[in-house]
Amino acid sequence: MYYVNPNIKDVVRIFPPQDRYGYLRLDMNENPEGLPQDFVDSVLKEFTPSFLATYPEPDIFMQKYADFVHVAPENICLTNGSDAAIRYTFEVFAAPGSSVVTVTPSFEMYGVNCNMLGLVHKPVPYSKDFTISVADIISAIDETTDIVALLNPNNPIGPNFTEAQARQVIDRANEVGAIVIFDEAYHYFCKDTFLLLINEYDNVIIFRTFSKLFSLAACRLGMVISNETIIEYLRKARPSFEVNALALKFAERILDHPAIFDELLSTFEAGKKHLIDSLEKHGYEYYPQSGNFIFIKPHIDANLLATNLMKEKILVKTYGNDLLKNYIRINIGAPKIMEQFMQALIKADTKEANQE
Ligand SMILES: Cc1ncc(COP(=O)(O)O)c(C=O)c1O
Repeated sequence: MYYVNPNIKDVVRIFPPQDRYGYLRLDMNENPEGLPQDFVDSVLKEFTPSFLATYPEPDIFMQKYADFVHVAPENICLTNGSDAAIRYTFEVFAAPGSSVVTVTPSFEMYGVNCNMLGLVHKPVPYSKDFTISVADIISAIDETTDIVALLNPNNPIGPNFTEAQARQVIDRANEVGAIVIFDEAYHYFCKDTFLLLINEYDNVIIFRTFSKLFSLAACRLGMVISNETIIEYLRKARPSFEVNALALKFAERILDHPAIFDELLSTFEAGKKHLIDSLEKHGYEYYPQSGNFIFIKPHIDANLLATNLMKEKILVKTYGNDLLKNYIRINIGAPKIMEQFMQALIKADTKEANQE
């Protein structure tokens, strides 16, 4: 019988849902509308046969992105989405059998990668009021810990960590020789960042992505930002052509057009305001988070509501765990998208809706 890596054999994977194209997608923290069509058309014109026949060359984008975030290209490692950044960082900096401290609930791929790589996952739980004790995170870090992975802001819940809290965690991680990841996938929806800490500490890694505000989830473009030594190790762990040329070109052109960035951000902010005003008007209990998503407490069972909304061609996220099972999570889009959602919510959030 052939060999199967036992970690992979035993890992439990829940693969992303398919057939989402015809729906208003409010379930996976994407931009439901995406980039302006005329911008997409203009970039598509650059994809000549010769361009497609050439292996990707990331250097031009790297320099522009480095300027954009005010670091050197040597501080950046591009990955096939930040999903891949998680994998490489764990592969490089966690010894087999060592532990990884995260919070829970959190982005599920942190736990999945622990299982795939034979690492011990130590999740520190949020309380019922959606807060977490940083003291609990610090006490979970011990001599077995090689990586602490925090999201700032966390997905799905939680207020941002303060800089003082981040420093406490980094100091404790330093004592045991662990790396600290701050996953900033939702940066720009909120302005907080720990990026500058890469200059002060030699064990800090920042993850960013083009999947969220920049609306390129289909292209798969993530970035690790850290000191040159860490980046050099991570670059060695990647395949030769990790990031594809289409992703690089779209991302480069977004950086070339600052008005696109401004438009994406102002549309998000207008959409968030529209949604919150509307939820207030209709008396809904809701919990906005710092990222591009919000929790809403429906009048009926959350899973039933999700089924009802599917009939309206709208996808929302629900949870099985005790903390979140009474809520739906939706990601925020333009005001007209939020209005479409609210109209559907009012119709679907009744027991009768299910019988129609
Ligand atoms: C916190 C966090 N990190 C990483 C990712 C994955 O992003 P990417 O599309 O860059 O792989 C997500 C996706 O939802 C996320 O929520």
